[in-house]
Amino acid sequence: MKKMILFADPGIDDAIALLYALRQPSFDILAVVAEYGNTFRHYALSNSIYLLKEGGRSDIPVFTGAERPFTGEAPDVQPTIHGPYGLGDLQPFLLIDQPSENIDQLIPLIEQHAEELTIVTLGRLTTLATLFLLYPILMNRIKEFYLMGGAFSVPGNITPFAEANIYDDPAAAEIVVQQAANLTIIPLNVTNDVLYPPRFFTEMEAAGANPLIRRLAEFYQRFNNQENGTSTIPVHDLLTLVAFAEPDLFSYGLYHVEVITAAGLSRGMTVADLRPLSEQPAGPLPRIALDVNPTAVLQHVFHIFTTQPSDF
Ligand code: BDR
Ligand code: CA
Repeated sequence: MKKMILFADPGIDDAIALLYALRQPSFDILAVVAEYGNTFRHYALSNSIYLLKEGGRSDIPVFTGAERPFTGEAPDVQPTIHGPYGLGDLQPFLLIDQPSENIDQLIPLIEQHAEELTIVTLGRLTTLATLFLLYPILMNRIKEFYLMGGAFSVPGNITPFAEANIYDDPAAAEIVVQQAANLTIIPLNVTNDVLYPPRFFTEMEAAGANPLIRRLAEFYQRFNNQENGTSTIPVHDLLTLVAFAEPDLFSYGLYHVEVITAAGLSRGMTVADLRPLSEQPAGPLPRIALDVNPTAVLQHVFHIFTTQPSDF
């Protein structure tokens, strides 16, 4: 079993990813950390608790992460894409005015499992970077990290150059890419290559998947249709968990990575050093997913959610 802690900002694609994680037999989810990002922190928290309940796993603890980025800016939440509360047209499950600020209770859990633990991060990097600042020795004991974020020599999705998880807190992202040992990055280069047509979700529901997945996907499809004239959608965060479960469906390169932290047009841009490894600076070399087998991913996801085969 792969022991994991999930950092997320649900968020439609985070929600589908979390529901996948709960169905994936090879995952042992130790905790969820909910933070600002696609929506405000208290909605991300409410949504995480709701999704765990939906998946029959209310026993998994949920910790409260960051409320805003290191920049001090207000969270740049995305109601048009993810709905007013983060889960499309769903209302918040719990009305949380004062979230329990319990992130300290995550530390003993990390201490207990560090050497066999994977941290998967699907949102802004503020909470994870804070842990690296406060607990560098402990964080260096962690086995590996998977991170959804970045766009390497491809267009961004929040600015022409930057991907949203990195753009919203570039200083935090820079800390994580420089500090995290055994980091796998799942950037837009691959997440935009795995596109789900509407019939994927209706057929999955007909084959027994939780109807919530179709409902969430349809909200995002409507946005995508208005924005890009297509209802096929990427599900960025889901692909990151698929990579953790089935790394062989991807091909990778090892590169030194820098995040542009300065304000301006290139804020949040991720840059890979393409020189030979022997010429790269000292420090961790993240493994960046640069290619993926989309058909195999669709078939895998369909199977995990339904235990049925599919013709995708
Ligand atoms: C990432 O940004 C968020 O909006 C999504 O949930 C995903 O983690 C894609 O750029
Ligand atoms: Ca996310």
